[in-house]
Amino acid sequence: MIVTPRITLKLATSLDGKIATSTRHSQWITGPESRREVHRMRAAHDAVLTGIGTVLADNPQMTARDVDLPNGQPARVILDSSLRLPPDAKILKSTGELVMVFHAPSQDYGRISVIQSTGAICVEVGVSEPGLSLPAVLSALSDRGVQSVMVEAGSSIATSFLKSGLVHRLEWFRAPMIIGNDGLSAIGHLGVSALDDAHKFVRKSVRSVGRDIWETYEKE
Ligand SMILES: NC(=O)c1ccc[n+]([C@@H]2O[C@H](COP(=O)([O-])OP(=O)(O)OC[C@H]3O[C@@H](n4cnc5c(N)ncnc54)[C@H](OP(=O)(O)O)[C@@H]3O)[C@@H](O)[C@H]2O)c1
Repeated sequence: MIVTPRITLKLATSLDGKIATSTRHSQWITGPESRREVHRMRAAHDAVLTGIGTVLADNPQMTARDVDLPNGQPARVILDSSLRLPPDAKILKSTGELVMVFHAPSQDYGRISVIQSTGAICVEVGVSEPGLSLPAVLSALSDRGVQSVMVEAGSSIATSFLKSGLVHRLEWFRAPMIIGNDGLSAIGHLGVSALDDAHKFVRKSVRSVGRDIWETYEKE
């Protein structure tokens, strides 16, 4: 039996489900109390996964900061089909923990070697629309002992994970603001026409955190 890691999808949105403005400004939608919870959440997962879109837009570190780390920093995972990752990206800065960059089959050994010189490991996986094969990524992570993954990415990767039915848990932070339809939606097109086909979750908790609301859901 193939065991894939448990997936938590974390979203930090406006009340109308946007993760960035029309100019892609996103830092910070949620408040400091929510962000502190996110750091705790990172520390409780084996790996934090993001997409090249988020790395290029925000240059995040994706480490767990100012929290206890009984198991060390989580591994950092980047999905980057065509190896656009800048070698000086903060996410590549060494914390001694595993950093994995997944990419599509590539002959660009120079690029791979530049990224690997930072200590990261580049892993080639197959492609399946609209990007890298998520089952292949999860299987490679599982081979490395990763049992839980927190997905903290933009709309494209969040949508792909939901669409493939791989999300076990949703951690949704909502800030009391409305951005409007010209903002970037947390979730893109899922092709749901019948309500029966909507992705359904069971609410586990609702908490107030600073000025935000933090909802936890699990897959139905
Ligand atoms: N508020 C929040 O919680 C939050 C969190 C993160 C990001 N953001 C915002 O989100 C925006 C970036 O969104 P984004 O959608 O461009 O970034 P993303 O989801 O982080 O990354 C998307 C990229 O990942 C690559 N990819 C590889 N495999 C994929 C797959 N199976 N499915 C989908 N994508 C795959 C694709 O690029 P290649 O084809 O080149 O591989 C794709 O363009 C920024 O404005 C950022 O600030 C907000």
